[in-house]
Amino acid sequence: MTIPREVREISSGVYWVGVRDWERKFFDKLVPLPEGTTYNSYLIQGEDKTALVDTVNPGFEKDLEEKVKQVTDPESLDYLIMNHAEPDHANGLSHMASLAKDAEILATEKGKEMALSLYDLPEDRVRIVEEGDIIDLGGKTLEFIDAPWLHWPETMFTYFQEERVLFSCDFFGAHIATPKIFADEFGEGYIERAKDYFGEIMMPFRPRAKRALEKLESYEVSTIAPSHGVIYRNPEGILAAHRSWTSSEVAEKVLIPYISMWGSTAEMVHVLTESIAAAGVDAVPFEVSSQSLDTLAGELVDSAGVVFGTPTVLAGPHPQIIYIATLAKKLNPPTKYFGVVESHGWAGGAVRELSELVEGMTGELLGAVEVKGSPEDDDLERVVELGGKFVEEIK
Ligand code: FEO
Repeated sequence: MTIPREVREISSGVYWVGVRDWERKFFDKLVPLPEGTTYNSYLIQGEDKTALVDTVNPGFEKDLEEKVKQVTDPESLDYLIMNHAEPDHANGLSHMASLAKDAEILATEKGKEMALSLYDLPEDRVRIVEEGDIIDLGGKTLEFIDAPWLHWPETMFTYFQEERVLFSCDFFGAHIATPKIFADEFGEGYIERAKDYFGEIMMPFRPRAKRALEKLESYEVSTIAPSHGVIYRNPEGILAAHRSWTSSEVAEKVLIPYISMWGSTAEMVHVLTESIAAAGVDAVPFEVSSQSLDTLAGELVDSAGVVFGTPTVLAGPHPQIIYIATLAKKLNPPTKYFGVVESHGWAGGAVRELSELVEGMTGELLGAVEVKGSPEDDDLERVVELGGKFVEEIK
């Protein structure tokens, strides 16, 4: 039986042959995927030659093969282009190379080294391409653009000159499995998805991402075809969003990741949230045991302030807050100001440990409120004062 599979021509001679992974729940056992994800692969057919840009996650190789077959014989592929060596895009190379026995595998120098260490590939068929190198498919020209550290050291972009399509692999991506192929079919929510993704994957490499965007200014780009999520055939919106996310611009917003054991920390967080919001600054409480980390990463992309709310337990911050603060530090957000609200039964300790944890991040510690027992009026006054400091600095 032949199962019909969706293949879409997204630009003249360019076919989406990617797959949707509706069931995947985590990426790297770290990033939650509430809406699954996609592994976008693209077939480009010239008058003389055919290239496949990126492949698919382990387990989807046959789906990719069947989709390619709907356009051409997989044995006839001339080039397998590897923009990125991570298995969600490169694992399918071995399978496709075993079908297309004459195809060359094209990658950066670092990409070749990584691909050979990760996959069973014939070394003599892996060719290194450099910045500005082109391949001619017959009326269709592909150019390679170095774009390292987005988000591994070997990453590159492939640019289809005649149709001005940029194949950007992870960059500009979003973790969404959706029946929609294009961002304009998906609707406005695509920017929020892309923002969460940027926070999770690209924010630690903001200077590299900024450099890549500056490099792209010398290219006319009509379509951005990433390897996760939707395709942008009107890319100005997603480009502008990335310009903002890679700058140090922040919104008038305070993110408040917190956890509460017996309600005291929660009470302080509620007072803090209300007092900041009453002054006209966005306050976003984020209860860490019940909310998804992808949203946290997205909020970190443009929050001017972050206040951690935690009880002292086991002589320090709650372990879930230690995790969140550690993760936040590693994601390298452009946060300008930090704070802590803490409650304890007999002895504190969380503020000192959290202060040490956030040391080295871009922002300064504006203040901390420590409370013994249930918060009294004077304790909540100090919380309001802390909120006032954030408002004064941020507005
Ligand atoms: Fe989508 Fe870095 O892999």
